Amino acid sequence: DWTMSTYREEAVAAIREQVGDKHVICALSGGVDSSVAAALIHEAVGDQLTCVFVDHGLLRKNEAQEVVAMFRDHMNLQVIHADETELFLGQLEGQSDPETKRKIIGKLFIDVFQKYADQIDGVEFLAQGTLYPDVIESVSFSGGPSVTIKSHHNVGGLPEKMGLKLVEPLRELFKDEVRALGRELGLPPSFIGRHPFPGPGLAIRCPGEITREKLDILREADAVYIDQIRKHGLYDEIWQAYAAILPVRTVGVMGDGRTYDFACALRAVTSVDGMTADYYPFTHEFLGETATRIINEVKGINRVTYDITSKPPGTIEWE
Ligand code: XMP
Repeated sequence: DWTMSTYREEAVAAIREQVGDKHVICALSGGVDSSVAAALIHEAVGDQLTCVFVDHGLLRKNEAQEVVAMFRDHMNLQVIHADETELFLGQLEGQSDPETKRKIIGKLFIDVFQKYADQIDGVEFLAQGTLYPDVIESVSFSGGPSVTIKSHHNVGGLPEKMGLKLVEPLRELFKDEVRALGRELGLPPSFIGRHPFPGPGLAIRCPGEITREKLDILREADAVYIDQIRKHGLYDEIWQAYAAILPVRTVGVMGDGRTYDFACALRAVTSVDGMTADYYPFTHEFLGETATRIINEVKGINRVTYDITSKPPGTIEWE
């Protein structure tokens, strides 16, 4: 790709220019954005980059292990696996307001990075996989009043007190361009093709109060749902798909017994850049089969719904 090979060269030169001989610490969320940012910065400054994978306890099933293995084994990067589950879930306990949850997670991310940055000599930069849509959406709607829809945890700069400067090499790119750049950099296609995953993770797919029980149920339901999508060959047709666990228990019947378990909502959308989206038109057969599998295989879920809201007026994530 001509455009991306040029972009790559220019970005690498710009990163070298900005960073000099200093050290960069990189925020890995497990998504495509931060992976591509890390690969690009690694190409520019090599071992002057240390990646910190913050495991906030809000990741999908097996995600932490897979991401860490991929960065260490495939890409040869220096990766610190920071398991801060207790810290994040502890502070989120009892919190149900979406913006409050996002702000707690965003603040803890900064605290955690500060902690790890302090342990590495000569760190002057923090790298982030911020994209163009993140930049404009968290500022305002163009032409409209300045309204914050969601506080993205990776946007807005860092507090001066941290004394770290930002490296954001993807700030001018849309999602499809980031994927093209990732391919250009030689990242595994399976990784490049992964659906976007938000920094706040499962916190925003668990509307209302987060509990460990709900997170565990959510992970299992999501894994079954994604497995269904892959088995039916639909993964690459969909921009993003996930299960959300709803903050409500409903009554059901299983065998001879009454159940009183959580309901989940399945979400799948098509989109070009995440700014607008349409719900994915699954067949009723697919939806029925998936609901049956989730209810049979996931303890704690007895009702499955499919979210048919487009964006706007909905957003892709529930919070
Ligand atoms: P919404 O829900 O705003 O999501 O329609 C649009 C896209 O952005 C992702 N998203 C985030 N990504 N930090 C991120 O890195 C965040 O705080 C965040 N919130 C939403 C979302 O998954 C979708 O792809």
